[in-house]
Amino acid sequence: MVDAPGRKVVFSDEVLQDPYPTYARLHEEGPLHFLDVGKWAVWSIFSHAECSSIAKDPRLSAKRAQQMLLPLPISRQAEFSELARMLGLWLIFMDAPQHTRLRKLLNKGFSPAAIEGLRPRVEAMVDLMLKPLQRGSEADLMSEFANPMPVRIILEMLGIPQELRDMFVNWSRDIAVFRGSPDRTVEQAQAAQDALIGLTDFFRKTVAERRRNKGNDLISLLIDIEDEGEVLTEEELYAQCIALLFAGHETTRNLIGNGMYTLLKHPEETAELREKPEMIRTAVEELLRYESPVQLTARVLKEEIEVCGRRIPKKWSILCMLGAANRDPKKFKDPNRLDLKRLNNEHLAFSAGPHFCIGAQLARLEGQIALLNLVQRFPAMKLAGPRPEWASTFGFRGLKSLPVIL
Ligand code: HEM
Repeated sequence: MVDAPGRKVVFSDEVLQDPYPTYARLHEEGPLHFLDVGKWAVWSIFSHAECSSIAKDPRLSAKRAQQMLLPLPISRQAEFSELARMLGLWLIFMDAPQHTRLRKLLNKGFSPAAIEGLRPRVEAMVDLMLKPLQRGSEADLMSEFANPMPVRIILEMLGIPQELRDMFVNWSRDIAVFRGSPDRTVEQAQAAQDALIGLTDFFRKTVAERRRNKGNDLISLLIDIEDEGEVLTEEELYAQCIALLFAGHETTRNLIGNGMYTLLKHPEETAELREKPEMIRTAVEELLRYESPVQLTARVLKEEIEVCGRRIPKKWSILCMLGAANRDPKKFKDPNRLDLKRLNNEHLAFSAGPHFCIGAQLARLEGQIALLNLVQRFPAMKLAGPRPEWASTFGFRGLKSLPVIL
C-alpha cells in the first residue's frame, strides 16, 4: 500500500529566480519529496547519491515521451501522438537494447579525438564573435554571444549553412518550452509538434542530398555508419540530427550565460582565474555544479521499487533533481560556496549512467574557451543592472538576457 503524501508547492516563478534557498530547506527535510509541478505532483529526489543510483538503475525507464502529454486535456492528447512518437525516437528517451545500439553508433561522432579536433574551430568562432563586442561599451551577453555561439558550432558539425540559424533557434525554442514547462499547454504542444515536423522535413531533404555529396560532417558520419551495415533507420537518423541540434544549443548557451553571470557576481574568484588560466578546467566543472543548465531529468518505474525508504508504484514518474543534487551538503563541502578550484567535483550536471551526456566533452570545450576568453578580454566587465531575469522554465535554467558594461 502506498500512502498519499502531502504535495509540496515549491516551484513558483519567484522561486525559479533563485531556487537554492528552497533546495537547501528541502535537503534539510529529507532526500525525497512529493512536489507539486502544476496540474500534478511527482516524486522528486534531491539527494546526490540517490539521483546517481536512480539514473543507473535498469528498473527505471527513460521512455517518457508519452508521459509528457499528460498535462494536456485528455480530449486533446490524441492530436499530439506524432509529437510523442517523434520525441520517442531521441536517444535520451530510449531504453536498452535500442539505446545501447544507437549510443554506440553516435559515440563515434563524439570521440575525444573528434571533439579535440574541433578546438581550433571553436577558438576561431569565439574570436570572431567577441571582436565586435571589444569595440563597444555595453552588450547583452546572451543575445550577442552565449545564444548564437553553440548553435553555430553544432550547425557547423552537422554541415548546415549558418544562414538557417534563426529558423533552427525558433524551432528549438518551441521544443524547449514544451519540454521545460510542467504545465504544458495545447498551444505549446502544437508549436513543438510543428517544429519537429519542420525539422524532420528539413533533415529528410538534407540527408538525401548528403548521400549524394558526402562531406566531413556528423550527418555524413551517421550515413557512413548506416552504410557499414549497422541498423539506423531513416527516421532514427533524422531524430538524432534534431536531438543533437537541440541539445547542442539549449544547454551550452546556458553554461556560458549562467557561468559568466556567476563569475561576474564573484569578482575575487574571477580575478584569480584571470591570473591563472590553467584553473579553467576546474572552474567550468564548478560552474556546471553551481548553476546547472539542466536542473532535472525524469524516469518512469518499470516495477514497484523502494526509493529513499518509500515504495513507489510501477508506472509512476520520478524526477532526479540534478541542480539540487549538485548542492547536496552530504556530497559537497560548502555546497553553496563557489570554489573554482574544487577538486573531485563529481557533479551530476551531465547526469549519470547510460544516458550520461554524449556531448559533455564538447560542452566543456566550448565552455572553457568561451568563458576564459570573456574573462581575459574584458577584465573590467560588470553587470549592467541589479539582477537579470531567469527564464521561468522548470527543467532548463538560463537567463533571458545578461546586460553587461564592458
Ligand atoms: C552544458 C551543456 C550540457 C548539459 C548541461 C547537458 C546535460 C545533459 C544531461 C543532464 C543529459 C542526460 C539526461 C538524462 O539522464 O536523462 C544529457 C544527455 C544528452 N546530451 Fe547533453 N548536455 C549538454 C550539452 C550537450 C551537447 C553539446 C550535446 C551534443 C551536441 C548534447 C547531447 C546530448 C545527447 C544526445 C544526450 C542523450 C544521451 C543518451 O541518452 O545516451 N548535450 N545531456
